[in-house]
Amino acid sequence: MYSDFLPFPGNFVWGAAAASYQIEGAVNDDGRGASIWDVFSHVKGNTADGESGDIACNHYNHYCEDIDLMQHLGVKHYRCSIAWSRIFPTGSGEVNQKGLDFYDRLFDACLEKGVTPWVTLFHWDLPQTLQEKGGFANRDCVDRFCDYADTVTARFGSKIKNWITINEPWVYSICGHLYGVHAPGIKDLPTALSVAHNVLLAHGKSLPVIRNNVPGARAGIANNLAWIESATNSEADIAAARRWDMAFNRWFMDPLFGKGYPEAMVSWYGGSMPEIKAHDFDIIAEPSDFLAVNYYTRRLVAHSEEDRHIKAKQVYRPHIKRAEFEEWEVYPEGLYKVLVDIKKRYNNIPVYISENGTTCLDVIAADGCVHDPERVEFYRRHFAAAWQAIQEGCDLRGFFVWTLYDNFEWGFGYTKRFGFVYIDRENDLKRIIKDSGHFIASVYGNNGFSID
Ligand code: FCB
Repeated sequence: MYSDFLPFPGNFVWGAAAASYQIEGAVNDDGRGASIWDVFSHVKGNTADGESGDIACNHYNHYCEDIDLMQHLGVKHYRCSIAWSRIFPTGSGEVNQKGLDFYDRLFDACLEKGVTPWVTLFHWDLPQTLQEKGGFANRDCVDRFCDYADTVTARFGSKIKNWITINEPWVYSICGHLYGVHAPGIKDLPTALSVAHNVLLAHGKSLPVIRNNVPGARAGIANNLAWIESATNSEADIAAARRWDMAFNRWFMDPLFGKGYPEAMVSWYGGSMPEIKAHDFDIIAEPSDFLAVNYYTRRLVAHSEEDRHIKAKQVYRPHIKRAEFEEWEVYPEGLYKVLVDIKKRYNNIPVYISENGTTCLDVIAADGCVHDPERVEFYRRHFAAAWQAIQEGCDLRGFFVWTLYDNFEWGFGYTKRFGFVYIDRENDLKRIIKDSGHFIASVYGNNGFSID
């Protein structure tokens, strides 16, 4: 089906992604305030083994070594996030200069080593003080976010051109406020839907702020999109899959493109819907320069009376190859399909894959290396799917793998390893490049790869 070598366009952006709370550690250093993840992860039972990001990869103190590693592997673009509570320890008010200085040092070190930073403003670590005022369920948080965006883009606008406003509004609002498995651990549909609405508003309202401060800014949101299919041909399952698609994908995509929320889902949610003010959808639909897409898996969906909210559940087909994560089927075709769908539905907006990766049962082998053939295969197939989408005319401009090194995987603590660099937690957080790291280095270096 393919020629041997799959070449990518000349200016294709190859990168690695990470997020502040998952890697930085140093949670009490230099005036950082608490975030909702500090609080949530310290409540017994919220994370695997009661783990937290207190230490994580200690990137705060090892950032030079980590940037050297990226340079060594030919990772020329680095998607990182800023911890809001390092800049505003209580979410707003007084700026913490030491927090700004840390990111200044980080960005300078990147630029010096030929690594371009792409910055996410909000990767879930909301300052705890703002949560105490209702967090993103309180509309006031939209303005606090814009103030924070204003401060950091004014400070770093001369160095950083590419900005991602919000990471995965679905996960933040729904996992954090409906399922309660992420911080802040709330379980309430109306709250979750208000949060979802307000983070979309925060995205739209911050775009002019960013553009005002950053000459030549390019900005967009990172949505997690899954390819969704009905588990069977039954009418009930088809309807359930449609609801899942509307609640998971389209709820966070359609409003960005001036289409509002999917009508059928608005009726379904009924009295749980948040208040929507007159110009909200205009604010949300402020045009972005690109769409960042986090793609991991397909979801097969069936009708379920047990699910109170959308009466749908995910089902698993035992014969299908999965990642070590039960729920995350390995399905590269879904990446291709999601990209083609974006092209058709959303005016072929420029897209960057801002996350894609897998967790494996990685171990240090007798030879001192980490052999992760499943992850190499995972990347090979997902890069091929991306390549195929480009042949299909999708305006895909870059690919950031998740993630540089094993890190704090939210509710899963350190039990899930997603990195292409292994972190030896028993041995001073030593970094060991996995086989997948060498594979990535060769793909990035050659701007393509051979299919066999
Ligand atoms: C995504 C998150 C990222 C990481 C990966 C595995 O949902 O954005 O922080 O946890 O999943």
